[in-house]
Amino acid sequence: MNREDFEILNDGLIYFDNAATTMKPKKVVNAIVDYYTKYTANAHRGDYDNSLIVDDKYEGVRDKVRKFINAKTNSEIVFTKGSTESFNMIVFGFMSYYLKRGDEVILSKEEHASNILPWQSLAKRIGFTIKYASLNENYELTLENIEKEINDNTKVISLAHITNTIGDVRDVEQIGKLCEKHNILFVLDATQSIGHIKVDVQKFNISFLGFSAHKMLGPTGVGVLYGKKELLENLVPIELGGGMNVSFSSFGNYTLKELPARLEAGTRNIAGVIGMGEAIDYLEEIGLSNIHNYEVELKKYLIDKLSKVKNIKIYNKNTNSGIVLFNVGDYFSQDVAIYLNQFKICIRAGNHCAKMLEEVICTTNTCRVSLYFYNTKEEIDKLVEALEQQDKILDTLV
Ligand code: ALA
Repeated sequence: MNREDFEILNDGLIYFDNAATTMKPKKVVNAIVDYYTKYTANAHRGDYDNSLIVDDKYEGVRDKVRKFINAKTNSEIVFTKGSTESFNMIVFGFMSYYLKRGDEVILSKEEHASNILPWQSLAKRIGFTIKYASLNENYELTLENIEKEINDNTKVISLAHITNTIGDVRDVEQIGKLCEKHNILFVLDATQSIGHIKVDVQKFNISFLGFSAHKMLGPTGVGVLYGKKELLENLVPIELGGGMNVSFSSFGNYTLKELPARLEAGTRNIAGVIGMGEAIDYLEEIGLSNIHNYEVELKKYLIDKLSKVKNIKIYNKNTNSGIVLFNVGDYFSQDVAIYLNQFKICIRAGNHCAKMLEEVICTTNTCRVSLYFYNTKEEIDKLVEALEQQDKILDTLV
């Protein structure tokens, strides 16, 4: 689908590492270049034409993001460097004032480092408890297993919408209802879902959410923090500087701007924000449901083919996303990745920044194929063909 928009794919590159980052269509790249070559200016600081153009575009993207995730108001949308910064802001800017010793936060062992480490760091300081909801026999998180961990001390549930390893799509609508019923804050890591399926913060009852643009066709170094307005109002900026204050004096008094400016200290990644806006337009033109249906079709095709190759262990046959996690016999996953590289096939090997999953699947290393709409069945055939000759894996290394 739409391969002609991705020049990088013209030369036989088979890119199966879309959970790490996606390719960028021409439209996105051109929008970034236009900002740097035709109307460079800072945002919200100038009174001349180019500056006003930038203001319009920058705030226009905020409006696009709001519609894209169905937030209520633009002041609920904060531009960040990406998911990692968004999660650090949620945990250190809000939760560090909200949580107390004895409170409980529910995560899972499948979460990405950026949705584990800030919580663990804060838990050490405050003394709240982190509980990891169990995964079932397919390494997926069920509503029942989340429910089992809830008690009167539960204050927050923080989970990925789609995980970057098993690729299971969590039932966020039901989890949102559970949170509403028990008066629990629901933090959603939408990093792996935002460019693949619809994210609706109101329908899912999301308290806070984070995602990165580079996993949804946009540039690196830019992302979004969403928070319900009444919560975001209480998020204390972890960065202070220009653009976010109204006044300050030598007496040490300062006043901060209203949301969202209050949480956007310094000059933001303006080109990145503009590129992210183009990426949203592009995704909406194709349609997220078309993207998801095609990915699931490709995944089924891959699973079907891969299951027929000797020695392949697949960890997530039944999940409803484009991620396939597997191992080839006893071969070290990175050796497999290096072997595939000679066919210009890019996969990811290792623990994929979800280092606690090994406690559940009992292996530290796996190969991961993560598909996107520009991948094809022919590319999958080439991968399978290469893996059928797995006896040659070690030859590449010597
Ligand atoms: N978190 C990214 C991945 O899953 C980098 O590959």
